[in-house]
Amino acid sequence: MSKTRPARSQGKKTLTMAFIGAGGIANAHLSALKNFVDVRVIGLSDVAMPPMEEKADEYGIPRENLFTDYKKMLRKLKPDAVNVCTPNGLHAPASIAALKAGAHVIVEKPMALNAKEAKAMIAAAKAAKKKLCIGFQYRFDPKTVFLKRLVDDGVMGDIRFGRVQALRRRGIPNWGVFGRKELQGGGPMIDIGVHVLEMCHYTMGSPRPVAAVGMTDTYLGNKPSKRVASNWAGWDYKTYTVEDLAIGHIRFEDGAVIHVEASFAAHHEHNGTMDFQIMGTKGGAKWGASEVFTDQNGYMMNMTPAYVGNMKGFGTYFNLKLRDFVDHCLYDKPTIIAAEQGLMVQQMLDAIYESADKGGAEVLIK
Ligand SMILES: NC(=O)c1ccc[n+]([C@@H]2O[C@H](COP(=O)([O-])OP(=O)(O)OC[C@H]3O[C@@H](n4cnc5c(N)ncnc54)[C@H](O)[C@@H]3O)[C@@H](O)[C@H]2O)c1
Repeated sequence: MSKTRPARSQGKKTLTMAFIGAGGIANAHLSALKNFVDVRVIGLSDVAMPPMEEKADEYGIPRENLFTDYKKMLRKLKPDAVNVCTPNGLHAPASIAALKAGAHVIVEKPMALNAKEAKAMIAAAKAAKKKLCIGFQYRFDPKTVFLKRLVDDGVMGDIRFGRVQALRRRGIPNWGVFGRKELQGGGPMIDIGVHVLEMCHYTMGSPRPVAAVGMTDTYLGNKPSKRVASNWAGWDYKTYTVEDLAIGHIRFEDGAVIHVEASFAAHHEHNGTMDFQIMGTKGGAKWGASEVFTDQNGYMMNMTPAYVGNMKGFGTYFNLKLRDFVDHCLYDKPTIIAAEQGLMVQQMLDAIYESADKGGAEVLIK
């Protein structure tokens, strides 16, 4: 284990990185980063010491570089980059503090609690002249790369409709603070809906959202978990203030529409569905099955590629998204997880939740 005092790297091609939040997802990031020869993880901050100590020992981070106050960590370590892996409510304050301290930032999804925070983060990045990326890892999935290429090559024509599903049959998280609206901003729509929504929106070419309607409902999470076999029984129903089910309908500047369904507890036929479908003027496709629907030689064709590539386990997503971020910071390569797209996603989420609060009235996105 290195005991040398880390310092911001001076123009050499090594990125020093520190973490704010050292829980479950930070672990996935740390595991990916151990294979990066041009990244040195120099510090961690979290509210509790013991989990950080375990990770520090595993990943060769000096114990003196563990902090329970992230502002102190930023002052002491001056990392080139900060990886924000806290509950959603801290994404904006932690990212802004890191940007002001002169670090590039990658922040987990969703970008923030709301669009107002997301805008403040973008302003802070601009003021500091630092990069700000969002952990939208599903853009790197070979199935997304495949569909995006077909869309960009014009195979689908203009995409008019996207149908997004992020539905768990019984998947209310029984760890962390995923049921607490004040810390997370919402439930399944902002937590898992965001993954598939952003992937569909990105595949459609990132059109500007102009309005949305939504509904939310809570019927299970705020009650003790019943005796139903499921992976995550025993959630904290007493602090559960988010929705179980959220539905949204978003209109875009180019006239396209996305319909999105997200649930931690949906009574539907599958254990879990994370998928989207797009329909365009010349063709359509389903993401999960990599199925493409077009007309060819006078026939309606359903096609699947012989090979699209596959993700070898969850870790690969993190390798790819962190590689994108590191290349963006160190070598100025373009990124596909820019903060501006995170803001558009956040505007859609805000409008769905606001519409639900207003009984389903349409909310304009400005
Ligand atoms: N990309 C993905 O696939 C994916 C998957 C799961 C979670 N996430 C996102 O990652 C984030 C964290 O989720 P998680 O599953 O790791 O949750 P978690 O509860 O396991 O970890 C969050 C950590 O942040 C710490 N924390 C809280 N307040 C802090 C503070 N003031 N300073 C420093 N640390 C603080 C907590 O103690 C905890 O260790 C969430 O925004 C979530 O949406 C992303």
